Amino acid sequence: MDVLDEKTLSELAARVRAYPYPREMVVDVLRAIQERRGWVSDEGVELAAQLLRISPLEVEEVATFYDKIYRRPVGRKVIHLCDSVCCFSRGGEDILKHLEKRLQITLGQTTPDGMFTLLPTCCLGACGQAPAMSVNLRLYGHLTPEAVDRILEEERREVSP
Ligand code: FES
Repeated sequence: MDVLDEKTLSELAARVRAYPYPREMVVDVLRAIQERRGWVSDEGVELAAQLLRISPLEVEEVATFYDKIYRRPVGRKVIHLCDSVCCFSRGGEDILKHLEKRLQITLGQTTPDGMFTLLPTCCLGACGQAPAMSVNLRLYGHLTPEAVDRILEEERREVSP
């Protein structure tokens, strides 16, 4: 099974053995799996369940609840645009339209070059900086269309040689 490399698998197994409540490590295990391929396949859910000695359904419940775990392939950079009340009322909808126009995708889609996936998210805890988004968990606030263009450029440059 190519879900995890041997080293990471044995490190996780050791942590699970030493931890009093292994089921609390579900997110840690899913994140480790996600780091390898960028998302968590069905085999990844099975492996997490075996490691943690819980059912695949219990793993799936966490995986689908936690919106930073991806159960489908995503782009190299995942944009989470906040759609909660502060961001929505402070121009979030315009930022969404701008992102969709710039990236030529809609929410839930990935750009054809595999660079960006655009997803909605609930409050990022940055309401004072609304509207806000994160790109691969890096937070950006006080968004304007110009700021979004600059951020996309910088994020794209970071992965291009
Ligand atoms: S409502 Fe958007 S960060 Fe809180």
